[in-house]
Amino acid sequence: RIVYVNGEYLPEENAKVSVFDRGFLFADGVYEVTSVLGGKLIDFAGHAKRLQRSLDELDMPAPDAMGDLLEIHRELLARNEIEDGLVYLQITRGAAADRDFAFPGDDVKPTLVLFTQSKPGLADSPAAKVGIKVISIEDIRWGRRDIKTVQLLYPSMGKMMAKKAGADDAWMIEDGFVTEGTSNNAYIVTGNKIVTRHLGNEILHGITRAAVLRFAREAQMEVEERAFTIDEAKEADEAFITSASTFVMPVVNIDGTDLGDATPGPVAARLREIYLDESR
Ligand code: PDD
Repeated sequence: RIVYVNGEYLPEENAKVSVFDRGFLFADGVYEVTSVLGGKLIDFAGHAKRLQRSLDELDMPAPDAMGDLLEIHRELLARNEIEDGLVYLQITRGAAADRDFAFPGDDVKPTLVLFTQSKPGLADSPAAKVGIKVISIEDIRWGRRDIKTVQLLYPSMGKMMAKKAGADDAWMIEDGFVTEGTSNNAYIVTGNKIVTRHLGNEILHGITRAAVLRFAREAQMEVEERAFTIDEAKEADEAFITSASTFVMPVVNIDGTDLGDATPGPVAARLREIYLDESR
């Protein structure tokens, strides 16, 4: 695989980042994941915009190549012959001379890394046909989840808790209300209404979420952006998640409670179809 590091396209085994990189020492970095279907980047502009916002919120300098990101994505897709898959992009505050909590001066340049992951048939995932199971766990992450940082230890732990419980993912709960999944936004459908948490610092502002809500409204489906409890979710007609890597993925069981007959619901199925149709 060819990866991109600070202006160079290199075989992955030759790509190197300093041990003093602040991404490594302090999780002082931000990232984006953009999906690729049939060689086409899905919603690149949305991801680029959110990336700039993450940098701004953390007062992190943009790399010199910030204006060339689309070109770099395309070049990597071509060099790695990716039809379906993902592009991962990470920017860190760079490698300072020493380990120091204070941010370095502007002599230290940010680190920019991109790599691809090939996933043939990404849009035809078998999980979309049967749905996934989630468990609920407490949300103990920091208070700025709207910034897409690489501090992903708790979401990783949540994923492992789910696996251990025989489930696929975890929904995180704060004050009784669902915030989001470990790496996706969470939704329920009650009485034909699509309910998903309102935007704020408590969740990541999903690019897929924005597109799906827009398509839902265009299709005259009712959307309510408000917090919902895990108890309300267990009694919902349907549930689903959205993200760049799963698109729209039905949820059929929460904490061992089946939703309806435990098969993907019509609203989730329709939204998935619309999303894939409109984005490709
Ligand atoms: N995760 N919420 C969280 C906590 C996320 O990590 C993600 C994305 C989302 C969905 O955002 P989007 O629709 O823009 O992908 C919501 C990516 C896919 C990841 O970490 O791999």
